[in-house]
Amino acid sequence: MSSHAEPASPIPGIRRPLTLHRLHEMHAQGEKIAMLTAYDATLARLADEAGCDTLLVGDSLGMLIQGRDSTLGVSLDDMVYHTRCVARGLAAGGGTAWLVADLPFGSYHESRDQAMRSSAALMQAGAQMVKLEGGGWTAEVVRFITERGVPICAHLGLTPQSVHALGGYRIQGRDAEAASRLRQHARELHEAGAGMMVLELMPSSVAADVQADNPQLITIGIGAGPATAGQVLVVHDMLGLTRGKLPRFVQNFLAEVAQEGGDVAAALRAYVQAVKDGRFPDPTRHAY
Ligand code: KIV
Repeated sequence: MSSHAEPASPIPGIRRPLTLHRLHEMHAQGEKIAMLTAYDATLARLADEAGCDTLLVGDSLGMLIQGRDSTLGVSLDDMVYHTRCVARGLAAGGGTAWLVADLPFGSYHESRDQAMRSSAALMQAGAQMVKLEGGGWTAEVVRFITERGVPICAHLGLTPQSVHALGGYRIQGRDAEAASRLRQHARELHEAGAGMMVLELMPSSVAADVQADNPQLITIGIGAGPATAGQVLVVHDMLGLTRGKLPRFVQNFLAEVAQEGGDVAAALRAYVQAVKDGRFPDPTRHAY
């Protein structure tokens, strides 16, 4: 086999490792894309086996794994460590999910060169795509990095690394001016090379407009309604492990399957199925 051949599936019906090209085909064919966060090898493997198309090593690990009160203290070394753990878990299980890792706060803000160095560290740890937050100034960074072979997932709406500037974890894009700015940022980022974009905590209509403006962009919603190409949830939230009051867009899939004797693996499968069938998110329960 040539060193750059696409891995073939030896057995018909067995899933092949997902590529960005394949995710774009799925989106073009109207298949919804299921993403979950993953921070460790065990849950990464379980989520992959459940049929998750893509996993995100999110800097939400700052809260969920490290016990911080925001993502701001997460370092690039932390992200590299957890990306390695997840990549190993995927490899050990013959995983197929597309692996995205977050660039943490401060690792891409100084210069395009710094952003490229940080992206390289995550790619060398096993990521296939890196995610960065915000619009405007980030478009130039996205262009620079994608031109150098790093696929980029952008992140607009509620961007947790800017929590203090935004005045808390609030819904974004509510008024006409904010919605139009968000749409403009999305167009610029897509034009600069972002192939995927997380849209977090915004009115469903704004996310729908972003998707309509950029038909080929793989938008992944979280609290952004049903019109996005895919959905993401924080794995601890959808398994009911997170303490405190959760936002309305979260559904506890473990509680649901447990009524029928289902376990964590069943909850992960139920989430993937609900995203694929368009049953999650429910516009009447999970959207704004
Ligand atoms: O860090 C994270 O988990 C994220 C998701 C909420 C999209 O960015």
